[in-house]
Amino acid sequence: MKNNNINLEELLKSLTIEEKIGQLLQLAPFLFNDNNKGEITGPMKDMGIGSKEINLAGSVLGISGAKEMKEIQSQYLAKHDKKIPLLFMADVIHGYRTIYPIPLALGCSWDIDMAEESARVAAKEAAAGGIHVTFSPMVDLVRDPRWGRVMESTGEDPYLNGLYARAFVRGYQGNLTNDDNIAACVKHFAAYGAAEGGRDYNTVDMSERTLREYYLPAYKAAVDEGARMLMTSFNVVDGVPSSGNEWLMRDLLRDEWNFDGVVISDWGAVAELIPHGVAEDGKEAAEKALKAGVDIEMMTTHYVHHLKELIELGKIDESLLDESVLRILQLKKDLGLFENPFRGADEELEAKLILCDEHRESVRRAAEKSMVLLKNEGVLPLSKDVKKVAVVGPFADNQMILGGWAWQGKFEETVTLKEGLINKLGEDRVLVAKGCDSELPERVKTAMSEEGFEEAIRIAKEAEVVILALGEHFDLSGEGGCRTNIKLPNVQEKLAREILALNKPTAVVLFNGRPLDITELSNEATDILEAWYPGTEGGNAVANVLFGDANPQGRLTMAFPYSVGQVPVYYNCLNTGRPKMKEYGELHTFGEDRYCSHYLDAPNAPLYPFGYGLSYTTFKYGEATINKDSMTMEEKLTVKVTVKNEGKVAGTETVQFYIRDISGSVSRPLKELKGFKQVTLAAGQETEVEFEINEEMLRFNTLRNGFASEKGKFIAMVGPNSKEVQELEFELI
Ligand code: GLC
Repeated sequence: MKNNNINLEELLKSLTIEEKIGQLLQLAPFLFNDNNKGEITGPMKDMGIGSKEINLAGSVLGISGAKEMKEIQSQYLAKHDKKIPLLFMADVIHGYRTIYPIPLALGCSWDIDMAEESARVAAKEAAAGGIHVTFSPMVDLVRDPRWGRVMESTGEDPYLNGLYARAFVRGYQGNLTNDDNIAACVKHFAAYGAAEGGRDYNTVDMSERTLREYYLPAYKAAVDEGARMLMTSFNVVDGVPSSGNEWLMRDLLRDEWNFDGVVISDWGAVAELIPHGVAEDGKEAAEKALKAGVDIEMMTTHYVHHLKELIELGKIDESLLDESVLRILQLKKDLGLFENPFRGADEELEAKLILCDEHRESVRRAAEKSMVLLKNEGVLPLSKDVKKVAVVGPFADNQMILGGWAWQGKFEETVTLKEGLINKLGEDRVLVAKGCDSELPERVKTAMSEEGFEEAIRIAKEAEVVILALGEHFDLSGEGGCRTNIKLPNVQEKLAREILALNKPTAVVLFNGRPLDITELSNEATDILEAWYPGTEGGNAVANVLFGDANPQGRLTMAFPYSVGQVPVYYNCLNTGRPKMKEYGELHTFGEDRYCSHYLDAPNAPLYPFGYGLSYTTFKYGEATINKDSMTMEEKLTVKVTVKNEGKVAGTETVQFYIRDISGSVSRPLKELKGFKQVTLAAGQETEVEFEINEEMLRFNTLRNGFASEKGKFIAMVGPNSKEVQELEFELI
C-alpha cells in the first residue's frame, strides 16, 4: 500500500456532510465534461443534480484514456475545497485495448497463470490510461446459456471459478504499490448468474445451501485474495435485492467474511430498490442501501438527494456515512492518489503499451489455449500445402470478435480469420465469402437473406478445403443479450447444411459468447473448433490452431446442452432418488424403467460436458491407483495415474480430479472438481500425475454442524473430462 502520510480520520472530521456524501457518488465522465459520452452501460435517468453535486462526486466510471483523466482530475481538484482526488474506474473485463478472449474462453484454458497474466497486461494498459479500479473479475457461476452474461464468467464450477477469481485479483492488484497495479472489483454479489429463465435481471431464488455450496465460493475467493472492491448484483437474494440486503452485505460479507473493502452498487441498482418493491421512494432506497453497506451509488443520486435529511431526521446514524467515506478514502490513499492524483496516467506510455507486440503475443497465446476442439474426424489440422482454402460464413472476415465487454477494444484493430489465413497461406490461396449475416432475423431484416449462398457455394466447390466460420453477432450475448433459442441463427444452419452437402473436407469454427445448441451441426460436421470471441489476435490464433501450429488444449467449463430444453444441465448435479440407471448420455429406450429421472426425447447428459475437449494428439490413461482405501481426518491419500501421449504431435492434457461423497447429512453432488494438472507431453512421452486427498477437500455445508467433512464412503475420480473418469473408492474413518 502507498504510505502517503495523510491522516484520514482528520480529513474526515474536516469534511462537511455534503462533502462526505459527495464521496459516495459515482458519475460518468460526460457529466464532468461534454467531450465524451463515456461508457454507458445502464439506463440513464434524469440525475437531478447540478455542478455543485458534480464537483463533490467521489469517483468516475468509464473515461477514455489518460488525457481525459488528467483533464477531469485537474478541473475537479481546482474546484474541490479539500482536494480529495477522484477515483477513476472502468470495465476492463478481458483486456483494456489489447483484448483477450472473453472470460468464458479464458476459463476453458484451465491455465490459471495465463489468466493472471491477462489481468497483469490489462492493468498495465489501463493504469497508463488513468484507470485506478476495474470492475472485474466477474465471478458469477453460470448454468444457463440463455443468459447473455455467461460470456463474462469462467463457468459452472465453484472451485475452478475460485482459482480464476484469485488469479485475476492478483494480476490486477499485485500489491497495489506500483502505479501499474489497479484495484479489482469482484462482481456481481451475489448469484447474478442464476437469473430465472436465463433472463437478465430476473429473479434469483435458491436455498442458502445452494448459494453457499455453489454460488458464493468464487466471490469469497476474490475477497480472500484481497479484492479491494465488490459490486452488488441487480437481483434479489432470498427476496431482498443485493443493494439493500443487510444479511448479504453486512452479516455475510462484512462480519462472516471480514471484507473491509469498498462496496459499489451496480449501475442504478440503488434506485432499482424501488421497482424491486422494497423501497417506496428514493429516500427509502438510500436508507436501505446505506444500512446494507453500499458505499458508492453508481449513476443514480438518491444518496446525494436524501442522506443528509435521513441523518438529520435520525433515521440513519452519521457513523454509517463516515464508515463508507473512510473506506473510499482508504482506497484512494492505498492507490497513492493523495500523493499523486494522476498516478499512472501517462499518454505516452499508454500509446506505447497498447497493442504492443508483447501484448499482442500474449492475447494470441491466450486465444490459442482457450479454444476447444469439439470434433476432430479427419480434417484438422490442415496442411500448409493445401492448394486453396475457402473460408465461408459471417465470421470469415469479421472484426467483431471481441465480445460484448471489450469496451476500449477496437474492432478495426482486430485480426480477422481471413487475415489470419492469409498470414499463413498468402492471398492467392484463400477464398472468402460471407454467405449470410450473423444477426437474428427478429432483430435485423437482412438476417434471413440467402443471397450470399451462391458465392459461398461457388468458392467452396473451387477450394480443396472449406472453413465454415459461423457464430453469434457479439450483441446476442453480454449484458441484456439473452436468448430463448440458443441455436445458431437459422440462416447459418441452412448455409452449413448446403456447404456440408458438397462433401468437401470442412471444418467448422464457431465464434460465440455462450454454449450453443449445435446438436445438428455436431451430427453433420466432422470437425468443429469452438473459438469463442478470441480477441484482438483472434484470426491469427484460429489460423494457428487450424494448421496445428498450436495444438488445441481448451476444455469446456460450461456444458453444451443437446437443446435449451435440458437447461440447466451441469456436471456437479445431485443423483436424485430415481437416477437414470443407464449411461447418462444415452437416449432412453422404450420400455425401460419409465419411472426414473429422464427425458423421453433427449439424454440427461449434455452434448459436450464440463471438462470436455479434444487434442490433435491422443492421450492414453493408465490404470489409476489409490495408496489406501481409507484415511482418518489427519491422514492424506494419494491418487496416481499415468498419462501417455500416444500421438504424433506434442500436446497439453488437463488431467482432472473429482470426488464424490456417497452419503452425507445432505444429498451430495455426483462429482465435484477438486483438482487438475496440465501436462504438456511430447509425442510418445509419458508422465505420472498425482493428486492428494486431504480431509479439508471433503468439507461441505453439512445439515447441522456448518462447513465440515463427514465420515463415510467416497469415490475419487480421474480422467480427461467430467464424463470419462476412472473411479477409486475410499473411506473417511
Ligand atoms: C453494468 C454491469 C456491470 C458494469 C457496470 C459499470 O450495468 O452490470 O457489470 O461493471 O454496469 O459499467
